Amino acid sequence: MFLGARHLLLLSVVVIQLQMSVLANNTKLAQAAVAMPDSYSSDTARVILELGGNAVDAAIAAQFVLAVTLPEAGNIGGGGFMLIQKDGKGDFIDYRETAPSAAHRDMYLDKQGNVITNKSVYGIHASGVPGSVAGMWLAHQKHGTLNWDVLVEPAVKLAEHGFIVHPKLASSIERYIARMAKKEVSINFADYFSSAKANKNFKQPELAATLKRIRDKGQAGFYEGETAKIIANFMSEHGGIITQADLKAYQAKSRVPMKSAWNGYEVLTSPPPSSGGIAILQWLKMYELTKPAKGLEHNSVGYIHLLAEIGKRVFADRAEYLGDPDFFDVPKAALIASDYLEKRSSTITLDKISTTENIQPGLYESEQTTHFSIVDKWGNAVSNTTTINLGYGSGVVVAGAGFLLNDEMDDFSAKPGVMNVFGALGGKANEIQPHKRMLSSMTPTILLKDNKVKMVTGSPGGTTIISSVYESILNAVEFNMSAEQVVNSPRFHHQLWPKNVIRHHPGLDTEVVKALENMSYTLNERRFGDMHVIIERDGKLDAGSEASGRGKAVVF
Ligand code: DON
Repeated sequence: MFLGARHLLLLSVVVIQLQMSVLANNTKLAQAAVAMPDSYSSDTARVILELGGNAVDAAIAAQFVLAVTLPEAGNIGGGGFMLIQKDGKGDFIDYRETAPSAAHRDMYLDKQGNVITNKSVYGIHASGVPGSVAGMWLAHQKHGTLNWDVLVEPAVKLAEHGFIVHPKLASSIERYIARMAKKEVSINFADYFSSAKANKNFKQPELAATLKRIRDKGQAGFYEGETAKIIANFMSEHGGIITQADLKAYQAKSRVPMKSAWNGYEVLTSPPPSSGGIAILQWLKMYELTKPAKGLEHNSVGYIHLLAEIGKRVFADRAEYLGDPDFFDVPKAALIASDYLEKRSSTITLDKISTTENIQPGLYESEQTTHFSIVDKWGNAVSNTTTINLGYGSGVVVAGAGFLLNDEMDDFSAKPGVMNVFGALGGKANEIQPHKRMLSSMTPTILLKDNKVKMVTGSPGGTTIISSVYESILNAVEFNMSAEQVVNSPRFHHQLWPKNVIRHHPGLDTEVVKALENMSYTLNERRFGDMHVIIERDGKLDAGSEASGRGKAVVF
């Protein structure tokens, strides 16, 4: 455990608080579990749970720690979604970034109307107004039991005194700096991170000072006062558009999660502005409607083809109908209605690829994010996905405040028919408007049976998140895999465009790959995602973190 002597003070504060919170709760489960993207977040979440905090307390503390120890995706300069099942009820904290008030539909187009390369992806213009601190604050106000300052303190300590840099993080930073040096982008990432070396201590004093303001003043410690001033001044000095008024106006929102029956379970998942909840429900339900009666072997040709066919239809709908529900009327119920999905899947053939161009949105007849999963001993669960979009976000650190800003503006559709970095298309539903949330694929999801938590799942990976999530559910339910098998078995992804391309992890059977190529698919072997999953079976918890990352899952 990373908590050494210098953390003893913090722990004693927590212990005093606990005595009260433990008395207030009835223990239900013998176990708790965390599945986290690094050891610092894992150890912190565990300490908070062992000391009697609930899953939401542990999630808040972990989110702030990740802002220090997982700079490629953990953040206070980005946003995310926290799905909560607590005391038998679901809640969804939407802390997605918003477009600044000076944003407009064509802000990434040149005079000829072409998308300006990289403007929405790197540098000062790429960021939406960050939502993470407001999201944690709202989650805490609604569901927290320990004091806010106690939950932020572990992150303060790790920023102030430093943490030991994992070799995988050190080499990722080195590769990023080398890659960015070749691009014509104006970022200051290297000034802050080039001294992070493998197995060495790395301190972030400016970030520590920002976290202290958040610890002491809560949401206002970020969106008002000193931090807001630093951000706004930094923006105006470098030609950015986020203002103090934008920061003050930001609000995290509590939304009703999507909930739908599937295969004897209730799938509790992410509503818009996530596209993921609707997508995984469409995927799982169309799979039930179309799979042959005798079932399909895991990762066989037939299985991958069928799920790719469904993916074509899911992504055609995503591009047309999904956007921020506060700005665009998303036909949520219609998109997952049984008769619609029956009709939608009726054109699928089990052995032949359908023509990409013929797959249109169906209703009208008329790569770095991070995820973690937590279950506490009372059976409450948090599934949290958070992002600054690409690894290290916009590559811009707010000088004086020490945190990386997101490049989430690229998740809007800059122009109809032009793909974003994840190859996603969009139109009216996801065009840029001031204060609007950009469409997301983040899909934190919880599987329930009789209102009890059976599985907590989620992943990073841009549009591939949706495939990681629905495949993890099929792995657990249809193929009865352990949590480790669920996260480590090879996954695949098809999203309509590019035409008939299936991206997949290493490890698919070579005969399966050949057979899919013979059907005219193009196979593209490139890993995606970093899953952290908890499964409950027969009263026992099982947790798994994907082996390719630096995650740590424990049941205790
Ligand atoms: O919200 C989204 O869909 C994207 N900004 C997520 C980015 C992501 O997962 C990058 N990770 N590899």
